[in-house]
Order: sequence, then C-alpha cells, then structure tokens
Amino acid sequence: MAKIRLMPDALANQIAAGEIVERPASVVKELVENSIDAGASSIFVLIEKSGKDRIRVSDDGIGMSPEDARLALERHATSKLYSADDLSNISSLGFRGEALPSIASVSHFTLQTREASSNAGYEVEIVGGKLVREGELGVPPGTIIDVRQLFVNVPARRKFLRADVTEASHIAAQISNLAVCYPDVHFRLEHGKRKLLDAPSVPSRRERIYQMEKSWVESAVVLDDHVGSLALQAWLAPPAESRGTSKHLHVYVNGRPVKDRILTHAVMEAYRQASSKSGTPRVYLFLELPPDKVDVNVHPAKSEVRFVDQQLVHKAVFSAVKNTLHGDGRAPEITISKSRLSPPPFVREPTPALSGITGMSGTDMAEALLSQKPAPVEPTPTFTEFADTPPIPIGQFRESYILAADDDDVWLIDQHAAHERLLYEDLVDRGDSGEQQLLLTAMPLELTPSERVTMEEELSQLLAFGYDIEPFGGDGYVIRAVPAALSGLDTLRLVRAALGERERDCRSSSVIEAQSRIAARLACHAAIKVNFPLTMEKMQYIVRTLWKARQPTVCPHGRPTTLRIGLEQIERNFGRI
Ligand SMILES: Nc1ncnc2c1ncn2[C@@H]1O[C@H](COP(=O)(O)OP(=O)(O)O)[C@@H](O)[C@H]1O
Ligand SMILES: [Mg+2]
Repeated sequence: MAKIRLMPDALANQIAAGEIVERPASVVKELVENSIDAGASSIFVLIEKSGKDRIRVSDDGIGMSPEDARLALERHATSKLYSADDLSNISSLGFRGEALPSIASVSHFTLQTREASSNAGYEVEIVGGKLVREGELGVPPGTIIDVRQLFVNVPARRKFLRADVTEASHIAAQISNLAVCYPDVHFRLEHGKRKLLDAPSVPSRRERIYQMEKSWVESAVVLDDHVGSLALQAWLAPPAESRGTSKHLHVYVNGRPVKDRILTHAVMEAYRQASSKSGTPRVYLFLELPPDKVDVNVHPAKSEVRFVDQQLVHKAVFSAVKNTLHGDGRAPEITISKSRLSPPPFVREPTPALSGITGMSGTDMAEALLSQKPAPVEPTPTFTEFADTPPIPIGQFRESYILAADDDDVWLIDQHAAHERLLYEDLVDRGDSGEQQLLLTAMPLELTPSERVTMEEELSQLLAFGYDIEPFGGDGYVIRAVPAALSGLDTLRLVRAALGERERDCRSSSVIEAQSRIAARLACHAAIKVNFPLTMEKMQYIVRTLWKARQPTVCPHGRPTTLRIGLEQIERNFGRI
C-alpha cells in the first residue's frame, strides 16, 4: 500500500502558518498589507492583550464579493497574481495567497466584507481552520478581519510569546514601518482603549516620517539620488544619534519594508567610515528599482528580497550615503570654541517641532511644516582637505598621539588608527610586486573548527596579501611566508586573531568585501598600539605615509585618524582676530 498521502488542507495551512505567523505582529503585518493592497485610505487596528487575545483590522478598501470572501480563505488563492510572468513584476505587497488561510488555521477568525457596489456584506467565520458559519450581514463597504485567540490550537507557539509589552511594541513597529511607505493612508492602532498610534494621511513621505519620529529627524541629512535605474531617498541621522540596537535602521525596497543585509551593511559601512561613533545609525532608506531587478519571493513572510546585482546595489547605497554624510578625503577639524563655528556639514531640512502624532490632520501637518524655521545650528566638526605636504612631528602626547604641525595647522594623529590605515592599504594594494618574507622554518598552524571555517573562506585573500599558507595534515595548515608589511610580528597570533573575529562581522560582508574585511582585521591586530613610545623616525614615517594614503582620514574601521586645529581657530581663541 502506498505510504505517501496528500496532506489535508488544514494541516498544510498550519504548516505554512509556522513560517508566516510567528507572533501577533506578523498577523497585523499580513492583514494591514492586505488592506493597503485593497486600496484603503483608512486602516484601523485594534488589539487586546497585545494581540494575543484579539487583533481586529478594519479598512475602507475595495472589499470582496461573497464568492471571493470564501475563496480568499483557500490556500494559494489570490487576486494579485495570475501567471508566472506576473511574479517578476509584483507591485502589490501580497502575492502568495497564503496569509488568510494560514492565520485562520491557527485562530478563531472572522471575515466581514462588502464591496461598495453591493447592497449587503458577507461574513465567514472559521475556527482552527474549519468553516463554522457564513452568510450575509450589514456592514459598511470595506473589510473587517477579527482574529481572536491566536495560536489557540498551537499551544507551543502561544507559550513562547513574549511579554505583552514586547508583542505590542512589535505590532506598533510593523504598523509604523508600513505607514512610512503609504503616507496617503490614515493608520491608527489602539490597544484596548489606549491609542498607541494615529497617523492621519499626509502629502509626502517626509511628513509621514516626521509623524513617526520626533527627535532625530529634525537634524537628519537628506539624500535624494539616482544611480542608473536605482532611485534612492534617505533620511540619515547624525552619527551621534546611533544606538546599540538595529531597530532604528529602516530600509524599504519598492514600497516594501524589508530586512536586507546588503542594504544594512552598505549603510553601516558608510557611517563607519564617516564617523567614529559606533552603534547602528538611525536611518530611513528607500530604494526604488525596476521590479525585474529584485526578487521579492524569497521567504513566505515577504520581508526579504534578493537583488539581481547585489554588488551594484551595495556600491550605490554605500557611496550615496557616505558622500551625503561627508565628502571623500576630508578630515574632521577639531572645534575649540562652541560659540564661533562654521555651519555643520549636515544639510538641514525645515524642521517641524511636532509634539505628538495624535490628532493632527494632514493639512495641519503640512502647515506646521511650512511655518517652521530651521532649527538652531548645533556645533559639529567642520571638514577640511589634507594638504600635499605632511606636517612635521613635534612629539608624542601620552604615548598615543603624534603631535605635528605645518604652517597653518596643528595636528593630533592617533598612532594606532593611522598605522592601521597604512598597513591596511599596504595589504589591499599589494600587487604582484608586493614583498613577501619567507619564514626560516615553516610554521604549523592548528585551528579550531570555527577558525577553520573562516580559513577556508579567507585563504585566497590571505594568499593575495602575500601569505604562503597551505593545508597540512588533516585539520591544520602550515605557513611558509608572510607579507613583508607584517613580518617581525607574532605570525601565529596575528593570523589566529584575524580568523577568530569573524562572528562579529555582518554576514553579508563576506560576499561584498571579503578582501577588505580580513585586511582590516590583520591591520588592526598588527598596528602599533596606544600607550606605546615612538621614535621621531617612526613618527615621521607614519605621518609621511599617512599623507600619501588613499583614504587618510579614517582607519579601516571608520574611526578618525587625525584631528586638526586650524590657525584661524587658534588665533580666534587667543583673541587675535
Ligand atoms: N482587506 C482586504 N480587502 C479586500 N480584499 C482582501 C483583503 N484581504 C484579503 N483580500 C483578498 O484575499 C486574497 C487573499 O489574501 P492573502 O491570503 O493575504 O493572500 P495575498 O495577499 O498574497 O493575495 C487577496 O488576494 C485579496 O484578493
Ligand atoms: Mg496578503
């Protein structure tokens, strides 16, 4: 007898729900997406007990006929995609036809809907995937979906839900994330009797972001750019606003909030090179590209995408963000007096000081925006070019900084960061002519399993930098030569340290810039440390070589290498001008 059987629909739906419905916020996301796709101009969400007991989403969109209402709950039933060709040209948020049946399979689910042209509405009620009631009823045009007792029949999932406040904040985040993409739609979220979010329709994306964020958006730099067929728009918070959490880095592709490592990495990397402030930047980034250049059908939750040309997208975003944050090849100038500063590099938009997001109509919002004066300018470092001739070292400050001067400026140079930059460029730029130092005796290198994984990925880069490393024995390697720039150091410690740091890196960086990542790590471990005395010759060498570097102003990890105190500032502060 055959052992293989087709799954009953209810079971298939529950399995799909495992991927689509992770928590109450995923239900909210799917339902709100459907309302947006239905052309709604108002979407109201009501939750009870953080969505665990109830999620109700009502909209004034196109509604459904009774026949469609029944069909919508069948697996793979959708009005948004009819042929395989449509799949490469998706303009709606949904397209897989899986969300409603999945949600209905793990909850007590009621759908009420009415098309504007119809006299009566229709209701379908489903409990744990089984139809229990359907029929006509009187409702206004649009759709209301009520999801009660989520995961009623999946106790394991229910048990793993987080504290109410966590789940509610996920829901609010999902809604504001979608709201940012659809400024012309009125979104509201109520938790029991409490209003958590109210964002009436506004005329532009910019105003919608102001509705969502009241603090940093006022000082954001605005990016608006086209690179080939890519259109980029972004609001970039000053690096000082960066935080330890990644939840403030929002990226959108073709009107869809996404989690994307390529984009996140490009933005983080640009910030890292522009500023020494660590943490994840606060950013809203919108990328628009032709639908055939991006695949949105990567995961059932539709929050991941895959770009046809990842490198191109990464490069475009990275360069645009970096150039917007600051021009290339510039060093921050130290600011001594807060009272006399030139304007900051951050371009300011008119800044509405909106006190709350509730109760403000779109027109009020627009008026508020137009009547605002630019906010007072905060002191921020200004930028200057490196001159052709390097300054002359005078001495060392705290055995950590090289003090140097030229005719116009006094410089403080971070010896570790500067040396790191030099070693890094030495490794990366090493062509065939790059020097190699043969070791007198080959060195066996034992690796842990995780170091071995990294070694397998990075070996070709290490060879390109001038290492001669070969597999040896079962698990080990042997090192026969090292790049000249790194000779005289503890080779084993250095290679191990560079391989060991992998976990902390963003995974996408392995695709994009494996070369510079491992070079940056080697350079960091090999560079002169702080609290280390230097001879005058060594200081001269560092300063001279730094002034010839391609990117002298920052270390490979993005921290500044130099601080400049300009003559004008010195004279001002001494009251001479
Ligand atoms: N709020 C709504 N208003 C009108 N139609 C809706 C709404 N929600 C769902 N539908 C209809 O139900 C279908 C199935 O929804 P869903 O299961 O989320 O799949 P998908 O969104 O991928 O098509 C949609 O294609 C749409 O036709
Ligand atoms: Mg959908």
